[in-house]
Amino acid sequence: MKKLILLSLMLIMPAFAVASAGPKVALDHIQTDAADKASLQRGMKTYVNYCLGCHTAQYQRYIRAAEDLHMPAELVAEHLIFSDQKVGEQMTNAMDSKLAADWFGAPPPDLTNEVNLRGADWVYTYLRSFYVDDSRPYGVNNVVFPSVGMPNVLLELQGVQSKACAQVPKYDEHGSAVIDSLTGKALTVESCEVLTVAEGTGSMNQAQFDAAVYDLTNFMSYMAKPYKSDSQRIGMWAILFCLLMTLVFYFLKKEFWRDVH
Ligand code: HEC
Repeated sequence: MKKLILLSLMLIMPAFAVASAGPKVALDHIQTDAADKASLQRGMKTYVNYCLGCHTAQYQRYIRAAEDLHMPAELVAEHLIFSDQKVGEQMTNAMDSKLAADWFGAPPPDLTNEVNLRGADWVYTYLRSFYVDDSRPYGVNNVVFPSVGMPNVLLELQGVQSKACAQVPKYDEHGSAVIDSLTGKALTVESCEVLTVAEGTGSMNQAQFDAAVYDLTNFMSYMAKPYKSDSQRIGMWAILFCLLMTLVFYFLKKEFWRDVH
C-alpha cells in the first residue's frame, strides 16, 4: 500500500512541476498545424538563426526535418546549418552548459521536447512577453516566466516592449466582460501591466511578429511530435479501410445467413 501511495505521488509530480513554473497568466491560444510545411520551414529558419546558438534540439536530426518538411537535403545543408555539422547529425551547438549557467544564471535547456512540457500556447505567449526591466541583468523580464535568465533574442524583430498603463476591459471571475447595465457598454479598468511596443523599434509590425512566432512555435511542436502529420494521414486511411471492411462484412453476413431463415 505504501508503495502504491508513493507511486501515485510520483506520477502526479510532473503536474506540479509544470504548475509551479510561473504565475497563472492568460495564455494566447494558437492552433498548431503539422501539415503546413511552409510555416514549419519558416519556423525552422527562425529556430536555427535565433535559438540554436543557445538551445540544442538534440533529438532532432537535420535530415529528418528536411524529409518531414519537404526540403531538399542540400538546401538544408547550405542554408540552415551554420556550423561544420553534417545534414545527418543532430541539431546541437558548441555551447558549454557550465559556462552558460554562469552567464545566464541557468543553462538554456534543450528544446526538442519543450512543447510537450509546457504546451504550444505557453511557448507562443512566452516568446512575445518579454518587457523592459532595468533591474534584470539583461534589462528584460518576462510576464509568463518572471526573472527568466534568457535575454530577449527576438528584440530586433519585435521592437522594444514595455509595460504601460491603459484602460482594459473589466472581466468578472468567470472571465467574461462586465457590461454596464445602464449604457450597455463594456466596463474598463486602468491596468499598468499592458505590454506595448515602441513604434518603429522593430523590423516587423505586430501581426508579422505574431506570425513569425507562430511559425517558430509550430516548428517546435513538430519537433516535439514529429510523427503527428504521418499519424493523421495514416489514421484517415485506417478509418476509410475500416468503413470499407464494414461494408464488405455486412454483405458477407447477408450472404452467409441467406439460406438459414
Ligand atoms: C543567448 C542565449 C539564448 C538564446 C539565443 C535563446 N535562449 Fe531561450 N533560454 C536561454 C536561457 C539561459 C534560458 C533558461 C532561463 C532560466 O531558466 O532562467 C532559456 C529559456 C527558454 C525557454 C524556457 C525553458 C523552460 O524552462 O521551460 C524557452 C521556451 C526558450 N528559452 C525558447 C527560446 C527560443 C524559441 C529561442 C529562439 C527564438 C531562444 N530561447 C533563444 C537562453 C537563450
